[in-house]
Amino acid sequence: MSIPMILHPGNENLGLSLKRSIPCQILETKIRKFPDGESYVRFLEPVTPGPLVILASLNQPDTKLLPLIFAANRARDMGAKPLILVAPYLAYLRQDQEFNKGEVVTNREFATLISNYFDHLITVDPHLHRIDSLNQIYSISTDCLQSAPLIAQWILKHVTKPVVIGPDSESKQWVQEIAHMADAPYEVFSKQRLSDKEVQLKLPDMTPYQDHVPVLADDIISTAGTMIEAVNGLKKLLPLAAVCVGIHGIFANNSHLKLQANGIRELITTNTISHSTNQIDVAPLITSAVQEYLVRIGVKVSK
Ligand code: R5P
Repeated sequence: MSIPMILHPGNENLGLSLKRSIPCQILETKIRKFPDGESYVRFLEPVTPGPLVILASLNQPDTKLLPLIFAANRARDMGAKPLILVAPYLAYLRQDQEFNKGEVVTNREFATLISNYFDHLITVDPHLHRIDSLNQIYSISTDCLQSAPLIAQWILKHVTKPVVIGPDSESKQWVQEIAHMADAPYEVFSKQRLSDKEVQLKLPDMTPYQDHVPVLADDIISTAGTMIEAVNGLKKLLPLAAVCVGIHGIFANNSHLKLQANGIRELITTNTISHSTNQIDVAPLITSAVQEYLVRIGVKVSK
């Protein structure tokens, strides 16, 4: 069978890339905002009973969630089952504990909401820090795909003599993998967050890497405060300009412009969030995950 798929607005590029590698049929929908900010959702083609993929990367989740839920609910009414959410970027994972008394632990709240409307979730490198697995907060089955092999391949192709650097302890999980696969050394900085936009980093001795190209890698680049601080620190320690790699380029308030103007060699991201810096295509990972999931639950997919 060919897999029916709905693209949430903003996911067209990745959707087309998926269409090239998976037998899928993109169902036309219209999702837009009314002038008052309410959401309008319309299926221009019928959903037939059976599996349905909704591709919706969840950056800017507050505006996306309601139309997503409307679409999922309507699709379910039309017989979609299993309903698979492919959210290459999964939001609301950083508030994973009550840091200050009275704070809502939103990773759980968000997970409960998504679990209520979908049967399966596929995502890429979710920000797991104080929890080890999405299954601790999601009650549906989940697949967490890893972009490290794709990033390592990019480094091997584009950077001679890299040293892979993580700007904080949380990034160690990705940096270690990438460095191993790119056959490069790695270092991890330690970070203290002072506010939403400000961080302070502690850098290790970088003397052994004077002839290396620093490749800074982090899962999320949002305000770019972390990357800019790391780039500035590296400038004092290494002669070569840094390559910055973000798995998920959120780039709040166009923060990529500030980072790109900060004397770096290049800024690249995966296409989990559509952006001009996208150079690494995660579609092959998603294709395999969708096909493997359908095979696991006994649905035949044509090659
Ligand atoms: C946080 O722990 C993440 O791994 C990133 O380092 C962080 O989200 C980056 O945020 P920003 O770009 O706002 O510094």
